[in-house]
Amino acid sequence: MPAIAAINNLLSQANSESLEEILYCSVAVPLLQTKIQLDRILAAAHRRNLAAGITGMLMYYGGGFIQILEGPKQSIHQTFENHISKAAGHTAVNIVCRNEISNRSFGDWTMGFIGSAEIESIIHFSLSGVLMNMLTAEAKKRSLSVGVRGFVSIYNQMRQSPYR
Ligand SMILES: Cc1cc2nc3c(=O)[nH]c(=O)nc-3n(C[C@H](O)[C@H](O)[C@H](O)COP(=O)(O)O)c2cc1C
Repeated sequence: MPAIAAINNLLSQANSESLEEILYCSVAVPLLQTKIQLDRILAAAHRRNLAAGITGMLMYYGGGFIQILEGPKQSIHQTFENHISKAAGHTAVNIVCRNEISNRSFGDWTMGFIGSAEIESIIHFSLSGVLMNMLTAEAKKRSLSVGVRGFVSIYNQMRQSPYR
């Protein structure tokens, strides 16, 4: 193979494998706020994210969502464009930030979920403690990505909000 083709090949391989994170927020449609509908979204998200090599965290709070996804650039792009931005469960989907990252922060969470008080009582589980422990441990090891810092900052503001 000519050198230039070999280099191009290597570059495109590296490109297709490079990791990206995306942080977005959205507004839940009123009909979505039941356990069954959230379960359906999470089940589909787990299944597809596992196949696509995507990990991350979804938080529902007072009628809104914030989600961070991380994974191969191509997978993030396809999942966001084809599934998330078109999902019937939410509207006003706005990207907060999108960055290349060198490693994952959410390990093997195909999609962790944190609910606000009213949803937690329905969903029966919360990853908030897990998230905080994980991030504290992660933070000690290395600096957090822009997306994770954004997610944690919004998470903390929501936890402190009197309207929870
Ligand atoms: C808040 C929210 C988060 C979502 N997260 C993911 C995700 O992480 N991965 C994915 O493949 N799909 C995700 N989806 C898409 C859902 O899986 C999709 O809504 C579900 O398949 C039902 O399809 P429908 O909304 O078109 O009826 C998400 C949708 C919503 C509303």
